[in-house]
Amino acid sequence: MVPSTEGIDVLVSEVGPRDGLQNTKQFMPTAFKQRWISAAAAAGLREIEVCSFVPPSVIPQMADAHEVVRHALGISGLHVAVLAPNFKGVQRAVESGAHKITLPISVSRRHSLANVRRTTEEAIEDARRACAFRDSLPEGQRPKVEAGLSTVFGCTIEGRVSEEQVVRDAIACVEAGCDEVGLADTTGMANPAQVRRMFRKVRSAIGDRLGGAHLHNTRGFGLANVVAALEEGVRTFDSSLAGLGGCPFAPGATGNIVTEDLVFMLEEMGLRTGIDLDRLIAIRQVLAEGIPGEPLYGHVPLLDASARTSMVAA
Ligand code: COA
Ligand code: ZN
Repeated sequence: MVPSTEGIDVLVSEVGPRDGLQNTKQFMPTAFKQRWISAAAAAGLREIEVCSFVPPSVIPQMADAHEVVRHALGISGLHVAVLAPNFKGVQRAVESGAHKITLPISVSRRHSLANVRRTTEEAIEDARRACAFRDSLPEGQRPKVEAGLSTVFGCTIEGRVSEEQVVRDAIACVEAGCDEVGLADTTGMANPAQVRRMFRKVRSAIGDRLGGAHLHNTRGFGLANVVAALEEGVRTFDSSLAGLGGCPFAPGATGNIVTEDLVFMLEEMGLRTGIDLDRLIAIRQVLAEGIPGEPLYGHVPLLDASARTSMVAA
């Protein structure tokens, strides 16, 4: 299964239940995660990264991953994505029946060691093994495998990340068998000029294997970076409801770009997302109840409904 892009110009991929919840202090009860995912799908989200298959001792918030995937797979038309940091995670993800598995592969060696306790080269070897395993499965049960290249635009541990290294790692991921390679600004250090340059360089190296943009809003540059990526032809963006998110193993990393603001901006730019903004904003209540006291971000959700009347339609 691939996410349907019929009738839309941009695929907004919600990563809050994974990237968002991995970084919250509280465990969101399973029933709330399920309500969130159902409501997001009903609001028009076509792809949701619903959890990660990590040891509960490392990220306790993901202890109910199997139940969450089972629920999400019951929602017709929803493309169910998960994250797996190692081969064992891939095996669990395949067992769960998820449609897409993202492997975090950090270009920064020191972030890679902190995050998955492997070097970048070892993580790419894991990806090769994961793809071979996937290819050995019966047709119809083979999930899509995405390499989520992390710390592409800078690392809070290592500092500057070499652009040439990003390109080399992207090529290595394709050679390892990954269907696509997304570029992630794990730490929110990217600026629009860099985003434009990086997507262009990687596209010229791996062509249509280049996947989407995973952006964080640490410095408030998130939506500017979206526009830069749009200008480079990127049409898939990860984002998180209420801007939750961050990598617990990248010091200083904060929330993803806010899904509500992203959807409003894209629609105002005349790009169709297929998402109902009012229904999307209403889901913040599930977060307020499921992880009480956790800060919820965003500009558009704080406006009166009249102030978010589309200027395009007017
Ligand atoms: N799911 C469940 N259990 C797992 C697992 C997984 N994906 N991977 C390993 N384990 C278990 C092993 O079976 C082993 O259990 P045991 O002690 O009962 O035998 C134990 O965890 C340690 O296994 P090991 O292979 O030595 O893992 P590790 O200690 O080298 O840790 C990771 C590697 C990848 C599991 C760990 O670093 C991790 O989960 N990182 C989280 C990364 C992340 O999600 N970051 C945020 C998103 S980018
Ligand atoms: Zn992230």
